[in-house]
Amino acid sequence: MNNNIKGNANLKSPSGDLGVLIDGKAISDQVKQEIAAEVEAMVAAGKRRPHLAVIIVGHDGGSETYVAHKVKSCEQVGFTSTKIALEADVTEAELLAKIDQLNKNPELDGFIVQLPLPKHISEQKVIEAIDYRKDVDGFHPINVGRMSIGLPCYVSATPSGIIELLKRYEIPTVGKKCVVIGRSNIVGKPVASLMMQKGYPGDATVTVCHSRTSNLKKICLEADIIIAALGQPEFLTGDMVKPGAVIIDVGTTRVPSATTKSGFRLSGDVKFDEVAPKCSYITPVPGGVGPMTIVSLLKNTLLAAKGEVY
Ligand code: GUN
Repeated sequence: MNNNIKGNANLKSPSGDLGVLIDGKAISDQVKQEIAAEVEAMVAAGKRRPHLAVIIVGHDGGSETYVAHKVKSCEQVGFTSTKIALEADVTEAELLAKIDQLNKNPELDGFIVQLPLPKHISEQKVIEAIDYRKDVDGFHPINVGRMSIGLPCYVSATPSGIIELLKRYEIPTVGKKCVVIGRSNIVGKPVASLMMQKGYPGDATVTVCHSRTSNLKKICLEADIIIAALGQPEFLTGDMVKPGAVIIDVGTTRVPSATTKSGFRLSGDVKFDEVAPKCSYITPVPGGVGPMTIVSLLKNTLLAAKGEVY
């Protein structure tokens, strides 16, 4: 355990063993401070501040909140940010023309197009239109492909955030059995790929489970590390977890709640009350993987500004 990490809470379990609550908020604050220090050093050396642009299309409430957080986080670390808001009826051609403009703008280190997009716009076409050298989301096939063969690239936010948490908590991965539940392009597949790569944090023996997997419980019970990323609230229950396992919960499903002002709360893919007493480390929802995702975007933008990837 890295004792420099503030805000750790030990979990109490009936057996008296103590697991560690992985504090994604504390780590994200720590990484933001590191990024801010680098930015100030760049500026002191006469360089311009890293510059991220975010395109948002339409008025989806969730997307507007995410984008507001991204813009605020840029401010916190001293980046320049530009928000480009387009109406929901923007045509695909107009959006692609805007992307072309940003691709060619030398004042911009990286940019993202917030997803999901309205139905009349092809997300894949949009992702592939972004110059991979400015694709700080890491969604372009060139970045995905380079990641999978271990070349320098922009790694997408959630997998990168998970890896950073494992690293900062010095959680052993080498030779460990890691089960990933979920096979999405933005979490399951890339995090499986990173966990099996040579070196730490990697060198794990990875099994990817999904909706058609048989014997899921048996497979999970053998796991030293479980990464739950299927988007099904409280799917992973206590009887599916080996004592001492490390649990990473990627779920963030909005479920109705009578006790919150907004009328909903975020639910993870892990039944926390059952699983937490059995495991050695666990990420809470909210406050685990979530805060790390924006930090990963900031890290990619800093790398882009420094020209360290391409
Ligand atoms: N929508 C939800 N998460 C993301 C993300 O990481 N990037 C983009 N562009 N859109 C998202």
